[in-house]
Amino acid sequence: MPRPVSPSSSFQVTVQPSGRSFVAAPGETLLGAAIRAGVGLPYGCKDGACGSCKCKKIEGTVVHGEHQEKALSAQEEADGLVLTCCGVAHSNVLLESRQVTDERGYPVRKMPVRVAGFEKKSPDVMQLRLQLPATDTFRYHAGQYVEFLLAGGERRAYSMANAPHTQAEHPGIELHIRHMPGGKFTDHVFGALKEKEILRIEGPYGSFFLREDSDKPIILLASGTGFAPVKALIEHMQFKQITRPVTLYWGGRRPQDVYFDAWVRARLAEMPQLTYVPVVSNALPEDGWSGRTGFVHQAVLDDFADLSGHQVYACGAPVVVDAARDSYIAQRGLPAEEFFADAFTSEADKHAL
Ligand SMILES: Cc1cc2nc3c(=O)[nH]c(=O)nc-3n(C[C@H](O)[C@H](O)[C@H](O)COP(=O)(O)OP(=O)(O)OC[C@H]3O[C@@H](n4cnc5c(N)ncnc54)[C@H](O)[C@@H]3O)c2cc1C
Ligand code: FES
Repeated sequence: MPRPVSPSSSFQVTVQPSGRSFVAAPGETLLGAAIRAGVGLPYGCKDGACGSCKCKKIEGTVVHGEHQEKALSAQEEADGLVLTCCGVAHSNVLLESRQVTDERGYPVRKMPVRVAGFEKKSPDVMQLRLQLPATDTFRYHAGQYVEFLLAGGERRAYSMANAPHTQAEHPGIELHIRHMPGGKFTDHVFGALKEKEILRIEGPYGSFFLREDSDKPIILLASGTGFAPVKALIEHMQFKQITRPVTLYWGGRRPQDVYFDAWVRARLAEMPQLTYVPVVSNALPEDGWSGRTGFVHQAVLDDFADLSGHQVYACGAPVVVDAARDSYIAQRGLPAEEFFADAFTSEADKHAL
C-alpha cells in the first residue's frame, strides 16, 4: 500500500500496466502532473465535465475538486474510479489506464501566433491559419489541440487540422472553428478578427492521436468540426504510409456541415485503404441530399455488427462522442481502451445541469 504522508507533500503516481510514473506536487491535479511529466493519460475538457480522463484507482487516496455528476457519479467514485483532471493525490497513488503509451508527450509551451489568414468553409465554419514565431518548430502529435489564452484567464481549445509534417511545406497551424453564437471567442473569429492579429496559444494538449503500435482497422467518427483533428490523422496516415483499413464517418445536420467533402474525396483516390461515409441528420428538400441520413454514430452501429477487433477515434459534439462510446462498448463489443475521443465540451456543456 502507498505510504501515508501528509497531504501537503508531493506524491508518486504510477500508471499500470505501462509502469510509467510521475510526481504530483502538493495540490496539483493528477492530470496536470502527468502532462508536466510528458505521461500521456487520456483527457478532454480538463474541467470535470466530459469524463474522458476517468480511470481506475488501484491504490491510494485521491480527493476530487468540483466536477459534474455525469463525468463521475458518486457510485463510480465509491467503486474506485477517479477523474484525473480534478483529482488530487493525498497519498502515493496507483492508477490503471490502458491508453497510456510509452511515447513521451511533447513539451507544452506558450507562444504568440499571428493570424496568417482565414476563410469561411461553410456559413458557420472558419478555417484559420496561424503563423508561429519564425525559427520555431511546434512539435505535436496529429490529432492534438492548442488552447487560446483569452483575457480574464479564460481558455478555448481547438484541434490542429494539419499533421505536423505539413509544416515543412506550409509553416504554421490550421484550425477549423465553428461559430457558436454568443460565444466569447467564436463571436470574435466571425466578427472582428483581422489578418496579422496576434493571439496567444498554449499546447500541444490532448490524447487524441493515432496509436501506431496497433494494426487493428480504424473507425474515424467526426461530427461537425470534429473533422479537424481527423483530417490531421488522415494526413499523418498517408504520410507514414499506414495501410490499416480506415472508415471515416462524418456527420452534420446539413450537407454544408461536411465542409471538406471534396478534400476527403480527393484522398479516396490516393488512399485505397480509406472508405468515406458522410451522414446528414437534418437535410432540407433543397439540399438534394441523396446520401446516408440519421445520426452519425448510429450509421456505424448499422454497418458493424462487431467492433471487438477495431479501434475507434471519435471527435466533436459531446453528445455524439458519449453515444458512440456507450453503444460501441455495450452493444458491439468494442474494448473500452480502444475508444479514443476528444469531446468538444464548451462553456454551455460545463454549465449544463
Ligand atoms: C479538447 C477540445 C478541442 C476542441 N476543438 C475544437 C475545434 O477544433 N473546433 C471547434 O469549432 N471547437 C472546438 N472545441 C470547442 C471550443 O473549445 C469552444 O468551446 C467553442 O468554440 C466555443 O467557444 P466560444 O468562446 O465561442 O464560446 P463560449 O464562450 O464557450 O460559449 C459557448 C456557448 O455557450 C453559451 N454560454 C457561455 N457561457 C455560458 C454559461 N455560463 N452557461 C450556459 N451557456 C453559456 C454561449 O452563449 C455559447 O452559445 C474544442 C473543445 C475541446 C474541449
Ligand atoms: S472530466 Fe476530466 S478531462 Fe473532462
